[in-house]
Amino acid sequence: MIKTLEWTDSGVRFIDQTKLPTEETYVTCTSCEEVAKAIRTMVVRGAPAIGVAAAMGIALGVKNSRAESVSELRRELDRCCALVGATRPTAVNLFWAIRRMQAKFEALGIRSLPQLKQALIEEAQQMYDEDIAANQAMGRWGASLMPASGGVLTHCNAGALATCGYGTALGVIRAAIALGKKIQVYADETRPFLQGSRLTAWELIKDGIPTTLISDSMAGFMMRQGKISAIVVGADRIAANGDVANKIGTYTVAVLAKEHGVPFYVAAPFSTIDLDTPDGSRIPIEQRSAQEVTHIAGKAIAPEGVAVENPAFDVTPANYITGIVTERGIARQPYEESLAKLAAVQAKVVL
Ligand code: MRU
Repeated sequence: MIKTLEWTDSGVRFIDQTKLPTEETYVTCTSCEEVAKAIRTMVVRGAPAIGVAAAMGIALGVKNSRAESVSELRRELDRCCALVGATRPTAVNLFWAIRRMQAKFEALGIRSLPQLKQALIEEAQQMYDEDIAANQAMGRWGASLMPASGGVLTHCNAGALATCGYGTALGVIRAAIALGKKIQVYADETRPFLQGSRLTAWELIKDGIPTTLISDSMAGFMMRQGKISAIVVGADRIAANGDVANKIGTYTVAVLAKEHGVPFYVAAPFSTIDLDTPDGSRIPIEQRSAQEVTHIAGKAIAPEGVAVENPAFDVTPANYITGIVTERGIARQPYEESLAKLAAVQAKVVL
């Protein structure tokens, strides 16, 4: 399995996703500042991976701290939480991870500084293990939704590279293939950052999974030709009513799916579900630099001075979504009810 990120004795090690698919290189961050930068610059990306990276960054900051008292260590923890919390606003996993690290620290009570540090490292490592287990559980739930044979379209990268391993949407596809289903993946290129062509195609080809790369504008024509039997994507934040924020372009795919009668599934762990956000209109959408749209690999593809918009995510209204696959089961419309019901399930029992 690809090691997207990993806790090591010398720091947090990431596969550098900005270099893929041409170079498979790894970087080790030795401070919380470096981890925050890796998240901001998308060395590591994908909602679940960002969450665990943030937790590891916080653990690293606390480990490196020269604090001489618990209150000094708490101040360092808060500083690290603020650092990673300011990197990317949309994926709620980041804020879920921060809250979990803070809650762990508070729950530990009075301990020695080395014990507190060790407990936070272990918490981050546990989040890593839980993420892989959640993806495998999603795979088990979601595989039955995949066709026995046919094309399955995905957008962006919701694979091993977006998680601690196996993937959410790609985990569902992997599990379906493991059951013997004959799936041809259609990977949207995913302009402007090209997660589909650079990352999804790379990890699927590496696994020997049949993959066809298309540009985003081809998705509707593929559906019209009957080449797509199902769609499965990941999510960065799911509101209480089932509205889903995911990579820009997801909404377009969902609308096309409805027009063509193709089921549209979202696969995401509970750490992506934000029951405190009532609907998609309240989800903050990250705006990224104009350069991502006007340039490819450093080369200009647009005239200088043109106005640019670059929202990194869009929101797909819940009524376009056939089902939301989580590690606790599959939620279906009406999502207010089904998500609330799954939220009440004890995660550990299911995993
Ligand atoms: O900007 P990115 O690459 O972090 O966006 C990633 C996505 O939109 C993914 O689809 C989402 O995080 C789910 S990953 C399992």
